[in-house]
Amino acid sequence: MSRRKGSGFSSASTAEQVTEGIDATALTAIVTGATSGIGVETARVLAMRGVHVIMGVRNLVTAKDVKEGILKEIPTAKLDYMELDLSSVTSVRNFASNFISSGLPLNILVNNAGIYGTPFTLSENNIELQFATNHIGHFLLTNLLLDTMKKTTHESKREGRIVNVASCAYRLSYRGGIRFDKINDESSYSKFCAYAQSKLA
Ligand SMILES: NC(=O)c1ccc[n+]([C@@H]2O[C@H](COP(=O)([O-])OP(=O)(O)OC[C@H]3O[C@@H](n4cnc5c(N)ncnc54)[C@H](OP(=O)(O)O)[C@@H]3O)[C@@H](O)[C@H]2O)c1
Repeated sequence: MSRRKGSGFSSASTAEQVTEGIDATALTAIVTGATSGIGVETARVLAMRGVHVIMGVRNLVTAKDVKEGILKEIPTAKLDYMELDLSSVTSVRNFASNFISSGLPLNILVNNAGIYGTPFTLSENNIELQFATNHIGHFLLTNLLLDTMKKTTHESKREGRIVNVASCAYRLSYRGGIRFDKINDESSYSKFCAYAQSKLA
């Protein structure tokens, strides 16, 4: 069990524990990669506290199952899903455009989706896949949604939050940190260093 910090919580605290007693019914959040792992739990607990959660997902079939599972436990949950493939610039742009067209406010953006340790692959935009998915996709998404978040903050008078789910693995990037000139260098590619690099970014 990790040591508790000033907040009273630690890395052993659960999402339910840290949000206990919070009424977040006025808030809207996007959670990327909400079909598995941390993303599902984040979506579930935000929905439990009343947040309207938009799951940004590349697999709509799994998303439907996840949504149904959460609704079984929390019948009042406000949950929707929209297609989003973070490795594709076109998909990110379409998602942002669809979200903006929906007219929904945006208080919280959780950039969670990620891939880990994949063999060298280029995305459809010719960017090494881990860098494209974990960093570039979320970077673009955040930028495209920033005005909506600012507008929401202005209208609701509540500060927004952008959460980037990183990793302590960021320390294990290539020597020198982010190899801006060698992102797509297959000959020196290390799947673990490339993951770490994307998390450092
Ligand atoms: N688990 C750990 O120990 C750990 C530690 C440090 C950091 N993290 C970080 O925490 C985050 C979540 O990890 P996790 O363990 O919950 O992983 P996970 O169970 O593998 O879930 C990853 C999620 O990301 C989605 N995803 C992957 N590529 C995508 C893409 N191109 N477009 C849209 N969605 C995509 C997956 O969708 P599909 O279902 O379609 O594959 C899935 O929903 C990641 O950013 C990871 O790097 C995890």
